[in-house]
Amino acid sequence: MRLVVLISGSGSNLQAILDATRSGELKAEVVLVVSNHKAAYGLTRAAEAGVPTLYFPLKPYSDAGRPRAEYDADLARQIMSSQPDQIMLAGWMHMLSPAFLDCFPNQVINLHPALPGAFPGVHAIERAFEAFQRGEISQSGCMVHRVVPELDAGPVIAQRVVPFQTDDTLDDYEARMHAAEHELVVEALRICAKNSDE
Ligand code: GRF
Repeated sequence: MRLVVLISGSGSNLQAILDATRSGELKAEVVLVVSNHKAAYGLTRAAEAGVPTLYFPLKPYSDAGRPRAEYDADLARQIMSSQPDQIMLAGWMHMLSPAFLDCFPNQVINLHPALPGAFPGVHAIERAFEAFQRGEISQSGCMVHRVVPELDAGPVIAQRVVPFQTDDTLDDYEARMHAAEHELVVEALRICAKNSDE
């Protein structure tokens, strides 16, 4: 399975994917890593793993008054040449429009650090933690889902509950969440790889 991974930050989930492809746990090849942020450490992780990288910022489009849909379409064109079977959004902080998604029907999946329908959008971990502190929830978790135009919605491929502990600080909980994500992202991609072989 040919994988393109989109990141915007440290890329610890990308690292989990790279490690799993190298160990053979995940029968896939990461053929390209794309970031919209130049300083994303994930670009370094990719380069160190010998994976081609692409830095593709939105700013030149917004500075020129060109629409996001044009950015999305150009980004899709760049990625298409890598002939991906799946496109993994792993900490990718840019909402993709149909101008991108329509180029890769049923091939774009996203990792989100909340349970289905619970905390869509940014700062999901913090928002869940605050809800726990208010006594509103006792657990949160993470999921990998197919990407649809609605943010952090779409059919769920795999999910994992990450319960809170009474003495948790936000950092404690965040560390457990990220550890769960690193396992979940590989589990979800294994499901996709199996499905694409069938
Ligand atoms: C992860 O928690 C992911 O779910 C969220 O942003 C974080 C990315 O972390 N969208 P990393 O860049 O993979 O370390």
